[in-house]
Amino acid sequence: MAARTQRLARRRLPGARAHCQAVDARSIAVRDASFDAVVSCYLLELLGSEGILQTLGEIHRVLRPEGGSRWYDWPERARIQRSLPPRRESRAGLLGTAGRDAIPRVIRDYDFAVEHDRKVRQGFYPSRVLIARK
Ligand SMILES: C[S@@+](CC[C@H](N)C(=O)[O-])C[C@H]1O[C@@H](n2cnc3c(N)ncnc32)[C@H](O)[C@@H]1O
Repeated sequence: MAARTQRLARRRLPGARAHCQAVDARSIAVRDASFDAVVSCYLLELLGSEGILQTLGEIHRVLRPEGGSRWYDWPERARIQRSLPPRRESRAGLLGTAGRDAIPRVIRDYDFAVEHDRKVRQGFYPSRVLIARK
């Protein structure tokens, strides 16, 4: 999928500097401050709490200062609630509160400013769209 997307992007937008490659989001093998924007679609909901924290840390690291990040993620009743253990201490320091607000708070703890946070529904599937800026 990544290779196909890269080919399509090159063909349709020859001037674009888009780079598409398959990586483990928990450990992104690129230099710090490499990207202007990161888009994550339906990924965080698949990761456990450690994976979520690692991924947010990586997104923060690879974004340029002032870079933006968009998450189109997780069903409303999501696993977030279940995957974040209660009263656990971490860098985020808030995992015990869980619930659907846990992720935006964790994102803020990584020094992202949440600019947009909206619930949307496509058919039966409820999602949350979140845009944050570093
Ligand atoms: C629900 S699919 C969403 C696919 C696509 N983003 C979309 O919105 O249609 C979740 C994707 O996350 C990928 N994935 C799961 N764990 C990952 C990880 N640690 N790092 C990067 N991608 C991961 C899976 O391979 C899968 O392609």
